[in-house]
Amino acid sequence: MAGPDPRAELRELAAWQRPLRADFPIVAANPEQAYLDSAATSQKPRRVLDAVHTYLTTSNANAGRGSYPWANATTAMVAGAAERVREFLDDRSAKAEGGGGPSSVHFTSGTTEGLRTVARDWLPLLLSDGDEIVVPYGDHRANLDPWLEARDLLAAQGVRITVRELPCQAGTGDYDARALAGLVGPRTRFVAVTHVHHVYGADMNVHRIREAVGPDVPICLDAAQSVGHQPLSVADLDVDFLVFSGHKALALPGTGAVWARGERGPAFRPGGWAGTPNTAGIASLAAALDWLEAAGVERIARWTAALASVLTDGLSRMPAYEVLGCRSSLAADTEVQRRGSIVTFRHHGIGSQDLGFILFSHGFMVRSDDHCQAGRDPRDGSVRVSLHVHNTLEEMEKLLTALAKLQ
Ligand code: ALA
Repeated sequence: MAGPDPRAELRELAAWQRPLRADFPIVAANPEQAYLDSAATSQKPRRVLDAVHTYLTTSNANAGRGSYPWANATTAMVAGAAERVREFLDDRSAKAEGGGGPSSVHFTSGTTEGLRTVARDWLPLLLSDGDEIVVPYGDHRANLDPWLEARDLLAAQGVRITVRELPCQAGTGDYDARALAGLVGPRTRFVAVTHVHHVYGADMNVHRIREAVGPDVPICLDAAQSVGHQPLSVADLDVDFLVFSGHKALALPGTGAVWARGERGPAFRPGGWAGTPNTAGIASLAAALDWLEAAGVERIARWTAALASVLTDGLSRMPAYEVLGCRSSLAADTEVQRRGSIVTFRHHGIGSQDLGFILFSHGFMVRSDDHCQAGRDPRDGSVRVSLHVHNTLEEMEKLLTALAKLQ
């Protein structure tokens, strides 16, 4: 199904986007550079930087320790940030009477640590000898290695579990729904999947995963590339863990969170709470979620999908390039796969590292390597352009002009 015209979308949203771009100091200070690596880490708007400055200059102390006012303020700030995460993810139990509910939020340094925490501190409590888990093979290594390590740790204790690997399809980046149906059986106790693929940019249609695995199996969702990029709701997705990186969602480096539902399986009580939390980072995360909500995540999704669409359309007219994953960016039909804010491609004659260097000499900052994709030879690289709300049509047009010259 043909979607809307991306340039018309961009024209319609231009007046909304302009002040948002101006709100990123590093972007405003470098108008000749285009930052196209938001999937690796995002730039930070002024409100986030101000929130960190305010926190550190008014109430910096440790959380959960001490009873003087700064310590109390920090403890309350961390609790408030956890509540903010729950609201942002549309955890409706957060609005339940008494504000309670069975969910919890655990702050981490990012998605990798978050997934590792689930694998280390929760999964072994769930599994018994002979159980099976289904994990993605072909997504980010951070969503594969921790599950394999948990299997090996359990095996050392005499508990043998089987790991079934769910591949994503190179052509579309999506999961193979039929393969998934074949992987799920009566001993399946856990499924890990990814919301938006970090190389293919594909929305992985995770609503189909719950349909395939049934109502009782816990699902852990790696949402590193979707939080802050597109509206999402843990209530609608019906997942049990949602793990994301705050630093990819406009917060400071070294921030992230695990949201845990806690209804299917044992309670999530991560051991990592010991020690001093990254309180300035947590303050930045709450501010980043406020900024994203005020800007409007739905419009951010439309803006970046329209930019991605301009880029994929332009690249598809240049035979020297191969775009990885699906073509569609803006299809309205939910069964047609959608591309979010990531476009990854190869040049048939120029190596990806070289192409990355050449693009930087033209003012474009992209990622060019194997992107830590599981199952991929590190030499088998590609160039990834990943967008956020500060990127513009002008940047896409300049990039296409530079790429056309390299044909
Ligand atoms: N996980 C980040 C990426 O995909 C670093 O680039």
